[in-house]
Amino acid sequence: MESHDYADGSGHRDQLKKYAEDIARLYQSEKERRKELEAARDSLQEAYRETINRLVIASEYRDENTGDHIIRMARYSALIAEKYGLPEPEVEQIHMASPMHDVGKIGIPDTILLKPGKLTEEEFETIKSHTLIGAKILSGAGSKLLYLGKEIALSHHEKWNGTGYPKGLSGSRIPISGRIVAVADVFDALTSKRPYKGPMPVEKAANIIAEERGKHFDPKLADVFLNNMDAVLKIKAETTPTF
Ligand SMILES: [Fe+2]
Ligand SMILES: [Fe+2]
Repeated sequence: MESHDYADGSGHRDQLKKYAEDIARLYQSEKERRKELEAARDSLQEAYRETINRLVIASEYRDENTGDHIIRMARYSALIAEKYGLPEPEVEQIHMASPMHDVGKIGIPDTILLKPGKLTEEEFETIKSHTLIGAKILSGAGSKLLYLGKEIALSHHEKWNGTGYPKGLSGSRIPISGRIVAVADVFDALTSKRPYKGPMPVEKAANIIAEERGKHFDPKLADVFLNNMDAVLKIKAETTPTF
């Protein structure tokens, strides 16, 4: 027994130093492991985001919609969600899932989707089915984001007063995500240029949103949108190409 080690305390000190070094090493390798995990998670999320983007691009490819519509309506949707007071992670999910609202258009024949004139009643029924087709494409997914995409695809044409489609749901029976996207989507469709129409002035489109509060739109969400027109115009300016 090396009692002299203990006599001056140096043995204890050496032992403690060794423990401290072991702990520091463990801590360091744990930190590195966590960093690697975070990097893997980030690149997975990026791949996920990109895959969703490509799905959306594929579904919008034949349509008159440009990519700007998707970017703007997603940002308007996130703005409404945020100002309404939804928690930050839900705002982000709505931002990412709202571009999927029309993925079902991929299943609508060109002759109807691209028809320049007025649609017959039967053709309009076919157009309406883009909500159900979208929901079918996105159903059964395990991720929260695709589930939300499905919810939005299915409910973005429902109306607060129950006269929308496909189910004719009314009021708070329509998921909040669909109610939010309805305002954002209609406002952007009205104020955007399409091959068959010019952009409607913002004031006129805002008046339509106001007139439709409690009819087409959830009155609270319409108010949130109209009370934040400064932010809406900022998004519009940032996301509309000037050429
Ligand atoms: Fe739609
Ligand atoms: Fe849209």
